This record gives sequence, structure tokens and C-alpha cells, in this order.
Amino acid sequence: MNTTFTALSQLDSTGLDRLTALHITVMHTLLSDLGGAVVRKYYQVAQKDPAVLGLCSVLDNGQIEGWVMGSPAPAALTARLRQPLPWFAGQMMLLALRRPGVMLELLRSFVSASDANLLSPGQIELTYIGVAPGAQRRGLGKALLTTFSETAFQSGFSSIALSVETDNPTAVNLYSHQGYKIIQTFHEGRFERHRMVLQHGSDKP
Ligand SMILES: CC(C)(COP(=O)(O)OP(=O)(O)OC[C@H]1O[C@@H](n2cnc3c(N)ncnc32)[C@H](O)[C@@H]1OP(=O)(O)O)[C@@H](O)C(=O)NCCC(=O)NCCS
Repeated sequence: MNTTFTALSQLDSTGLDRLTALHITVMHTLLSDLGGAVVRKYYQVAQKDPAVLGLCSVLDNGQIEGWVMGSPAPAALTARLRQPLPWFAGQMMLLALRRPGVMLELLRSFVSASDANLLSPGQIELTYIGVAPGAQRRGLGKALLTTFSETAFQSGFSSIALSVETDNPTAVNLYSHQGYKIIQTFHEGRFERHRMVLQHGSDKP
């Protein structure tokens, strides 16, 4: 079956549902813990943001095998999740009732947000990359990352930053093999993370 790389902004409603399901399957982070409605909203908001670079690997039958996305203002993107406020308040109330531990983790993440996540001028943050379990280890992650990096540099960004859990060697290897360098290791909530950066024009190892 053929695969095409499609811009995140081009996904229709079914595509958004599929991306949401894939995100929750492979991305074991706080956003997934907040539930499908919040994850879907995140990508809906990202689709409307012209500064977001997002790419999905879509099969002929519409299934999504992988995706990558990034933003030069990730905190502003997340902040837009709180709109409209009544919807967000409802989601938070449900979370507090159903998963109080996740609610506490969310509050903790606000309090312990690290300066390591700050972007420098001309930098874009790679916020998420993932490949469906059945499609992993076939080079798709590498292809998505390469295309994302090339597109970011062609768009004028001078470097790409990302944070990755230190206990995710698959992802750390993927980034390292593409020339990303660890510039800092820090704690955020329950996570220990590396901050990694790829400078435009730097040599691959
Ligand atoms: C990380 C991820 C995107 C890699 O996608 P993938 O399509 O399996 O990766 P590829 O087949 O393109 O492999 C790329 C590199 O990843 C590394 N890699 C892939 N699978 C690996 C494994 N099981 N163990 C160690 N390294 C691995 C290798 O360095 C490989 O490069 P190489 O072939 O030059 O050695 C995928 O494993 C995934 O979706 N993981 C869950 C979500 C996630 O952790 N995302 C990153 C969060 S920051």
C-alpha cells in the first residue's frame, strides 16, 4: 500500500480522529493522559496555526502510520487549549473526578515547568513525533524527522529544539543519528528529560 506525506492542516475530521487515536497509543505523556477530547483539540488548534509545521504519513486507505509536528510557539499553542473556557473547565472537572492523579500531575507540571524548554530566536520546537507500532523500525520515523528538519530549515528556522525522556533510547537514538545534540538534562514533574538541538548546517555524525 502506498504512503504519502500529507500536511497536518489537510487532515479532515476522520483524519483528526485517527491521529488522536495514534497519539494516545504511542505517546505516553501528560497530553495523552488528559484524554481523547483534549488531544483532538490540540491537533485541531495546531491545524489552524499557520506557524505550525505538521506532517502525517497517510496510507491509501486513510490510515495514519506516523506523524511529526512542531511549533515556534508551543506554549501559546497549549494555552489555546483553554478556549473556550467553559469547555476546558468541563474537561478539567471530568479529569479531577475520573483521574485525580493526572490532575495533580498537570498542576505539578505548571509549577515545575523548566526554563530548559524556552526557545531562542529563530528556533522551532519539535513537539511530537510518533509511528504506529506495526510500522516501527522500517525507517518511517527517520523519514518523518528528516523531512521535518529540512522543511523547518527551508522555512528559515536556524535550529530545532526538542525534549525527550531520558528513558526513551529509541527516540534519543533517532535524534542523535540525525545530528541532534544533548544540551541539557533536566527534571519536569515525574519526567527526566534531555533537551536536544539541531543547528542548521551542522554535520550529521
Ligand atoms: C521513536 C519512533 C518515532 C521511531 O520511529 P521508527 O519508525 O521506529 O524509527 P526508524 O525505523 O526510522 O528508526 C530510526 C532510528 O531510531 C532508532 N531506533 C528505532 N527503533 C529502535 C529501537 N527499538 N531501539 C533503539 N533504537 C531504535 C535507531 O537509531 C534508528 O536509526 P538507525 O536505523 O540509523 O539505527 C517510534 O519508535 C515511536 O513512535 N515511538 C513512540 C513515540 C515516541 O517515543 N516518540 C518520541 C517522543 S519524543
